[in-house]
Amino acid sequence: MTTKQNKEPRKSTPFARRMQATPKSFIREILKVTEKPEIISFAGGLPNPELIDTAGLAEAAAQVFCSEGKAALQYATTEGYLPLRQFIADRYRKRLGLDLSPEEILITNGSQQCLDLVGKVLLDPGDRVVIERPGYLGAIQVFSLYEPVFVPVGLDAEGPEPAALEMAVSRTPAKIFYGIPNSQNPSGITYSEKRRRDCAGILEDTRTMVVEDDAYGELQFTGKALTPLKKYLPDQILLTGSFSKIMAPGMRLGWICAPHEVMEQLVVAKQASDLHSNYLSQRIAARYLEAADIDAHVARIREAYHRQAGCMIAALHEEMPDGVHWTQPEGGMFVWIDLPRGCPAMEVFNRALEQRVAVLPGIPFYTDGGGDNALRLNFSNSNPEQISEGIRRLGTVVRTLCA
Ligand SMILES: Cc1ncc(COP(=O)(O)O)c(C=O)c1O
Repeated sequence: MTTKQNKEPRKSTPFARRMQATPKSFIREILKVTEKPEIISFAGGLPNPELIDTAGLAEAAAQVFCSEGKAALQYATTEGYLPLRQFIADRYRKRLGLDLSPEEILITNGSQQCLDLVGKVLLDPGDRVVIERPGYLGAIQVFSLYEPVFVPVGLDAEGPEPAALEMAVSRTPAKIFYGIPNSQNPSGITYSEKRRRDCAGILEDTRTMVVEDDAYGELQFTGKALTPLKKYLPDQILLTGSFSKIMAPGMRLGWICAPHEVMEQLVVAKQASDLHSNYLSQRIAARYLEAADIDAHVARIREAYHRQAGCMIAALHEEMPDGVHWTQPEGGMFVWIDLPRGCPAMEVFNRALEQRVAVLPGIPFYTDGGGDNALRLNFSNSNPEQISEGIRRLGTVVRTLCA
């Protein structure tokens, strides 16, 4: 035994192989640079803090502490607080005509945890995961932990390209197709009704489980819901949802709806992970939803984001040179920009930061390389003045680089 002082320096930590394949969250890294108050940031994906109903939530929290505090601060069941699961089931029936029972719903620690649990119960190393191209960074990161082979499927203005999806799931079996039909993150694209039917038709005769991530469904600007894939493929779909965008992300509440056989395994995986989601948050959320006019609240959020998106699109028209293209979001929080070839996104990122405006380069949204000439812009966390000024500065940077 040598003393601590005489010891050789420690060799590197023997990390698990899975960590080598898992990318650091590029966004978290970038946010460290961009969170300074003098910077106009389109880089993150935060909801507008003005639209978090702190008074309503404070009232609900006070009631919970006052009348059910001891129960709310106890251990609880893995599946989640029944009245909250009942609320979710009722809302699905009302909004989407989906007939789900609370037993088919598991409350999770944000909808991000749903993806982790799905990876845990479905993926073995080398399994194929079909994902939109560009794809949600958080999904790429969490599925990477399970060492799959990603099969990216390109998006056009209506959703995943049918021929590419067919190719991805029919020749070699894929374990999972992961998609975001409403206001996709990062592209802002919403699948058309026809494309939803086409995708369902392609996936129907396969053994692929479909993860339908509906983090943004309530934020479609028209207020009209489109048909969920779950309607076409009820037994094949794992549908995830979140209170982050309509209530408060810090409460960390999401959920997953799954057929009985899958639910059993998800519950085991969740129990092993964290026993249950924050019970206090669940009780506060249930109280809040009982008292609040949630339809009116969600309508306020939708209207604000619609205004903010409109302001960003108008500014892009005004400021961007020819050859720059962008998506037309019908909801959600993001616009996707395609830059001309000679205009690298990393260069735009660096120069824009010098002008105190932060954007997110497209690179981390690709599992197979790409995104060098693309940007994701977030409009939900900036007010119209900041959006106009930020896009003005960004336009100057892009025009200089394109000249
Ligand atoms: C498409 C998508 N899914 C899931 C999540 C995770 O959200 P949360 O865990 O807050 O529900 C996000 C977060 O931005 C997202 O954009």
